[in-house]
Amino acid sequence: MAIKYLESLDVKGKKVIIRVDFNVPIKNGVITDDTRIRAAIPTIKYVIDNGGKAILLSHLGRVKEEADKTKNTLAPIAVKLSEIIGKPVRFIPATRGSEVESAASSLAEGGIIMLENTRFEDFENGTAVKKESKCDKELGKYWASLGDLFVNDAFGTAHREAASNVGIALVLPSAAGFLLKKEIEFVGGVVENPVKPLVAILGGAKVSDKIGVIESLIDRADKIIIGGGMMFTFLKAMGKNIGKSLLEEDKLDLAKSLMQKAKDKNVELILPVDTIAAKEFKNDTAFRTVSVDDIADDELGLDIGEASIKLFTDKLKGAKTVVWNGPMGVFEMENFAKGTIGVCKAIAALEGATTIIGGGDSAAAAEQLGFADKFSHISTGGGASLEYLEGKVLPGIAILDK
Ligand code: 3PG
Repeated sequence: MAIKYLESLDVKGKKVIIRVDFNVPIKNGVITDDTRIRAAIPTIKYVIDNGGKAILLSHLGRVKEEADKTKNTLAPIAVKLSEIIGKPVRFIPATRGSEVESAASSLAEGGIIMLENTRFEDFENGTAVKKESKCDKELGKYWASLGDLFVNDAFGTAHREAASNVGIALVLPSAAGFLLKKEIEFVGGVVENPVKPLVAILGGAKVSDKIGVIESLIDRADKIIIGGGMMFTFLKAMGKNIGKSLLEEDKLDLAKSLMQKAKDKNVELILPVDTIAAKEFKNDTAFRTVSVDDIADDELGLDIGEASIKLFTDKLKGAKTVVWNGPMGVFEMENFAKGTIGVCKAIAALEGATTIIGGGDSAAAAEQLGFADKFSHISTGGGASLEYLEGKVLPGIAILDK
């Protein structure tokens, strides 16, 4: 890859359009997780500290109807950013027009403005026009006309071909920001050039969400550990009774062929040996630890058991690169969170290994447990991380490779 990085741009006196991913969770007007805002700070600071003028663009949620424009305003995010960065951030409540243009052209060196949600361009006069989401070239050119340089730091959006990432990069001299660089180095590194042995731990409810990742990692990893709801489809495919546990019946053949493929390629595919089973899908219910060979017909597995945590911990030993994506059980319910916590601790305790969390729920789990700083990298991407691990080309990154 011949990607240009932010350090190679001379930003002094330049209007720098920075695409960030501030698609953060907001409940009743309050930002409940500001990780993505904090993750973009190094890039924004670099630009303003070096005499650049920062023009920030981000999407927030999806804009499918007029009401979404009230719900998904970036106004509270500009306030939060200002608090975190300790500088004024002028919020412009529009995505184009005279207010936007005059704010951009009058911006002083070291100043920051943030435009309104780029996806407001997806809905116009009662119609879903998807100008942002379908990468309308005119819109990309318009945003590009506001600045001199473009920096993409929105890894979470890199799997989308949008006007605000690809569209602008088609026009302006462009580079990747520090966050994007880190994601390329770590998440991209797992796919392109992992230091071996590489161990992948995959969880989450559905096999269907992880097929691409498993297939891609079978070509790269030395061991693949599988937990979470999807383990039961594999166990069933091995001929075990899984009771009422989550099953994707139509993925049984796929599970069999993935297991065969792993065998053919000498990749060790490791499944749990025990599970925490209950009769109902709720936290407040009786449960027991049971071998995966003894699940009763009226039980469903909701987490991996102690023996599996120990097995996974042993299998992690000696790994030089570990990538983890997806919880081991229903970790939102306290009684079924131990597997996810155990795996998180085991990875965090590894010495001499590069450890990466591929975003989503496992990233949230590590943050909640206070283990965030024990990992080499926690990806800020959800869908983007998965697609990257699948070995797919991400348009937001590919466009910078020119
Ligand atoms: C994400 O949260 O995964 C990114 O911000 C992309 O959001 P999207 O799935 O709405 O495109």
